[in-house]
Amino acid sequence: MEWTKEQRYRSMDDVNEEEIQALSKLVNQCPWRQSFHIQPVTGLLNDPNGFSYFNGEYHLFYQWFPLGPVHGLKHWYHTKSKDLVHWENVGLGFAPSNEFDSHGAYSGSGIEHEGKLYLMYTGNTRDDNWNRHPYQCLAEMSPNGSIIKMGAPVIPDVPSGYTDHFRDPKVWKQGDFFYAVIGAQRENETGSVVLYRSRDLTDWQFVGEVKTGLGEDFGYMWECPDYFELDGQGIFLFSPQGLKAEGDSCQNIYQSGYVVGSPIDLEKIELKHGPFHELDRGFDFYAPQTTVDHLGRRILVGWMGLPEIDYPTDKHGWAHCLTLPRELTVKEGKLFQQPVDELKLLRGEKVETSQKVENGTICLDNFDGDVYELLAEFSGSTAEEFGLELRVGENEKTIVKYDRAAKKVVFDRTMSGEPFAEEFGTVRKCRLEAERISFRIFVDVSSIEVFVNDGEEVFTGRIFPGKNSNGIRVFARGGQTNVQIVKWDIK
Ligand code: FRU
Repeated sequence: MEWTKEQRYRSMDDVNEEEIQALSKLVNQCPWRQSFHIQPVTGLLNDPNGFSYFNGEYHLFYQWFPLGPVHGLKHWYHTKSKDLVHWENVGLGFAPSNEFDSHGAYSGSGIEHEGKLYLMYTGNTRDDNWNRHPYQCLAEMSPNGSIIKMGAPVIPDVPSGYTDHFRDPKVWKQGDFFYAVIGAQRENETGSVVLYRSRDLTDWQFVGEVKTGLGEDFGYMWECPDYFELDGQGIFLFSPQGLKAEGDSCQNIYQSGYVVGSPIDLEKIELKHGPFHELDRGFDFYAPQTTVDHLGRRILVGWMGLPEIDYPTDKHGWAHCLTLPRELTVKEGKLFQQPVDELKLLRGEKVETSQKVENGTICLDNFDGDVYELLAEFSGSTAEEFGLELRVGENEKTIVKYDRAAKKVVFDRTMSGEPFAEEFGTVRKCRLEAERISFRIFVDVSSIEVFVNDGEEVFTGRIFPGKNSNGIRVFARGGQTNVQIVKWDIK
């Protein structure tokens, strides 16, 4: 079905209860609803927004188009949790409602100040000729959860030299000032990031464009920038659009990644850093956002999806989910990402086995499932390649393996189930040199997240297998390997 502009930009005030109920019914009948990931009640979810720890709880909003699996009038949907694992759907955070966000309450971030959670976001507007004008807006959430928008935008204009692709403020506090990075496009249609400064979150000064070592031509737009310091190092995370695929890298329609360097020089507005790394080597990952919690952990959540791609759930009236929260650490210029420790709370019934596999495939009886956590540790390997087949059915399987000969981790969804996005390839790989390989894997009804060697690399992908594709197998080719496998049901 083609969605018209009118349908995409309809106000929720004009939508009646029966229509929403019919849509929810369609959504709830979908065989691919997730069981422990944040997913939209109806319609489309995209970027995580306003991720923060405030008043004893984690708050995580997301970009939401309630009426169907397309990008239309964006709202902020509100979820919260005490443990990063069990999330409560609070409901609508806020809707586009005024002349400064009339065509979408776009992405932004949250920060606590004087007992309130401030949410700074981009108000997207369009004029009669469909020209865009972005405003950076502010809303405040009280401890009781009520959210009030400020009457006027806090940054009403785009600084000169940049186009109307100017959005996604991420705020942090340093010394006496608040700072915000905003994703921007230069007039010559290259991507960049700019810095603002404020004492009170309402009065913002443009500081300038952040100088990086990425050159003047690193994609045509940088979305969802994020800056933070970890272990004394400066980390800049962003989602550049327009990078070319090269070797195993940048295979998805858009990328998201980071650079690590010394802390940002706020006087020279400069970041000195190492090479760009992709955050996730799988298929469905974009627009991540981080926060720091009361325990001092830096936690990242991403959108498990990508723009401009049709997904098999579309016909069921919904699309996408968020990734599990990952704790970040930095080692030798690279981010490591580990599922937050609280995810162990989900561990239910456990089965385990040790196997020696030689030139063959072993079916693990009693290890079936479509929702579980699995840890596989391989050692003593001489095999050319070894790994796991998951969600195995008559004609389906999803492969996670280590190609020891090429020293690459491989994630293959060629036969995972209902195909989609095949034009971007169905296999993802990345180089990793190690003698011992471990895969910590979270399988939900329609997704897989693979944390390789304690989070040195992560592969995330949606998959859409049949209901009965629940087998788990382990294999080795061209030699042998030992493997120890533990699987927990998810409670
Ligand atoms: C990234 C993005 C952001 C924008 C939002 C709109 O996916 O395009 O740049 O704020 O989505 O939903």
